[in-house]
Amino acid sequence: MDAGTGTGKKIAVAGATGRVGRHVVDVLKERGHDVVAMSRSEGVDVVTGKGLVEALAGVEVVIDAASTPSPDQQEATEFFTAAARNLHDAGSKAGVERLVVVSIIGIDGSTSGYNAAKLAHERAALAGPLPARVLRAAQFHEFVEVLMQWGRQGDVVYVPKMRTQLVAARTVAEALADLALAPGADSDGTTFPEVAGPREESLESAARLVAARRGDQVEIVAVSDPANPDRELFENGGLLPGAHARLAGPSFEEWIDVPS
Ligand SMILES: NC(=O)c1ccc[n+]([C@@H]2O[C@H](COP(=O)([O-])OP(=O)(O)OC[C@H]3O[C@@H](n4cnc5c(N)ncnc54)[C@H](OP(=O)(O)O)[C@@H]3O)[C@@H](O)[C@H]2O)c1
Repeated sequence: MDAGTGTGKKIAVAGATGRVGRHVVDVLKERGHDVVAMSRSEGVDVVTGKGLVEALAGVEVVIDAASTPSPDQQEATEFFTAAARNLHDAGSKAGVERLVVVSIIGIDGSTSGYNAAKLAHERAALAGPLPARVLRAAQFHEFVEVLMQWGRQGDVVYVPKMRTQLVAARTVAEALADLALAPGADSDGTTFPEVAGPREESLESAARLVAARRGDQVEIVAVSDPANPDRELFENGGLLPGAHARLAGPSFEEWIDVPS
């Protein structure tokens, strides 16, 4: 049951099968809410709008945790802005009260790639007509393995030099569920709540831990990408949480032995 009202809400989750979306679904169900899971595998496409109007019937809040695997700025921008537009359109028609979006800590200065596309996503989400809230999260524990796959060349794995305060997707899901139903104002687009793990982690060490647990005899090398215009941001702490961030475990080391 919803702690505030004593009644469960009907909440739709876009990207319900994803790294964070699946945990959002679990957390909401554990709290007694009625969850509408939305993803293409569930017959709902937030980019084309297929199945969206039907899925949102009776829904009070939409949490958008959908994503594209594309790191290309234009492709990712088109994905996120179309998703925001369709969720606003279909959501307004269905009488949805609020849209909640998950974004990334420190992306204000991003000028390229996926992170710049997320800035466009935030703006589109906050442009209305539905009131919206944006939670910015640090890189997920679950994302380390993805970065390793992207950077693998034979027996060497190149990971980007990046200062990060890795966080478990389940921890982000709990913060998203809290934000979705918290009393108070919606976002004014100038400050954003943040969620991150309990401490700064070394991406290189995290990748070594993953390789060790998998029994993978791979060499891990942290590299600086001179072609990345946002390199300074990555390497000099621009992606670390601010003083007001919610910090919560598990740490990467605690998480890897008991992934949730
Ligand atoms: N990964 C990180 O470290 C990180 C850190 C901070 C913030 N975030 C943000 O968190 C959000 C979720 O990221 P994630 O890593 O959890 O994503 P993910 O694991 O790649 O999951 C993506 C989800 O979106 C769904 N999806 C893809 N295309 C869709 C479409 N056209 N219509 C409906 N659903 C669609 C996928 O399901 P189907 O394929 O079945 O459609 C899947 O459920 C993103 O906004 C991301 O920017 C991620």
